[in-house]
Amino acid sequence: MTQKVAIIGGGRMGQAMIYGWIKAGLDFEFSLFDPVINDEFQKFLLSNGWKINPTTEGVFDIVICAVKPQIFPLVGENLKKLCGDETLVVSIMAGINLSTLQSASRCGRIIRAMPNTPGQIGAGITAYIGNSGCASEDFAYVEKLLSPLGEVVRVYAEHDIDAVTAVSGSGPAYIFLMAEAMIAASQNEGLDKETSEKLVIETILGSAKLLKESGQSAQELRKAVTSPNGTTAAALDVLTANAALFELMRNAIRAAAHRSKELGKN
Ligand SMILES: NC(=O)c1ccc[n+]([C@@H]2O[C@H](COP(=O)([O-])OP(=O)(O)OC[C@H]3O[C@@H](n4cnc5c(N)ncnc54)[C@H](OP(=O)(O)O)[C@@H]3O)[C@@H](O)[C@H]2O)c1
Repeated sequence: MTQKVAIIGGGRMGQAMIYGWIKAGLDFEFSLFDPVINDEFQKFLLSNGWKINPTTEGVFDIVICAVKPQIFPLVGENLKKLCGDETLVVSIMAGINLSTLQSASRCGRIIRAMPNTPGQIGAGITAYIGNSGCASEDFAYVEKLLSPLGEVVRVYAEHDIDAVTAVSGSGPAYIFLMAEAMIAASQNEGLDKETSEKLVIETILGSAKLLKESGQSAQELRKAVTSPNGTTAAALDVLTANAALFELMRNAIRAAAHRSKELGKN
């Protein structure tokens, strides 16, 4: 039987998933719940067989919650209406833990996922954890449904989601900060803003691609580009003096993981 899937929240992440599901031609019956949907998006969904804010659908096989965490208390009643005993609930909301999701939905099968910003263009990475009620077919469904956001990995302990939040959830901001700093330093060396931005963006993109595709570790690639007494060595001496960068990054990621844990307690 065709699975009935509902998504609550058609914002940036919700739409990234929806466009991906439609493109992939997934064989599910989809409904979107969102009080404000613009006309163009509404037409697009209807023309692809979607239902919008249906009131007579009964319960769904899978319900995905993609609203902002602060909105979550407001969708609680709707969530209960959409869920039956057999519903799989999937949340991509930051900081809402498995037990809160379970009590809000009254469902036994819950998956909590943490995507990141590049997911908006399908280039993200999402880590997820399932509670003890989930079975392997639930993980297969959730991997299919999260794949439009990019890569998907499973973790096995809920506290790992705090580490994931600190590394890949907040991680794009660390890279954006590094890009900002490199662009400013490039301009300080006399290059114009446009050239500086282009040099930095392509350097980050190319380095990430090489790291992913070469089969070499970050350390091996870094050593390969660093000739003794060369230009790269001169810069790295500054960045790594007294292990400064490593310690800074360890402390930054520890602070983010700690904050994620605190937010999860609310
Ligand atoms: N964006 C990211 O990079 C990112 C990264 C990691 C995790 N996440 C998580 O992903 C979730 C969604 O983020 P987002 O960036 O997609 O947020 P978003 O763009 O604000 O999307 C949320 C959507 O939910 C809608 N909404 C508000 N109240 C609702 C209700 N009562 N019922 C149904 N829908 C309602 C909003 O409508 P209005 O706009 O009209 O209010 C909006 O369309 C968040 O929980 C966030 O923690 C996002």
